Amino acid sequence: MLRRVVDSAVVHPGHGSRRASRPSSPRYVGAKHAIGCASGTDALVLSLHALSVRGGDEIVTTPFSFFASASCAALLGATPVFVDIEPGTFNIDAAKIEDAITPKTKAIVPVHLFGQCADDGRDSRDRRALAESP
Ligand SMILES: Cc1ncc(COP(=O)(O)O)c(C=O)c1O
Repeated sequence: MLRRVVDSAVVHPGHGSRRASRPSSPRYVGAKHAIGCASGTDALVLSLHALSVRGGDEIVTTPFSFFASASCAALLGATPVFVDIEPGTFNIDAAKIEDAITPKTKAIVPVHLFGQCADDGRDSRDRRALAESP
């Protein structure tokens, strides 16, 4: 099977690579839909593409990460906006995310490092939105 996929130069479910892409099936990740990607960088770029990110948009992320966390934004003409990290976890500091959000913000790429889930600030924003609703 591997020879067939390499010779075809196509890695896509339905071109003989179905078995290789099974770990990214929706059921495996518990999602409604899933797309197997060749790399983490591809996954980030595709995700921002799906959100129609383009020039003039801003992507909030952490400076303490692999280059792709910022380059995925730059590749689409968007501007990465860095938020400082927490000293205890080295993950993005959720308390500082809100200050970085502008009308141009299209997405937050929080990055989970060293097996610790980063707080992307959603909880605090959700709580405030609830408090402000009539
Ligand atoms: C946080 C993070 N994002 C993205 C990537 C990119 O992954 P890949 O090398 O598969 O493109 C890496 C790779 O180390 C990473 O650590």
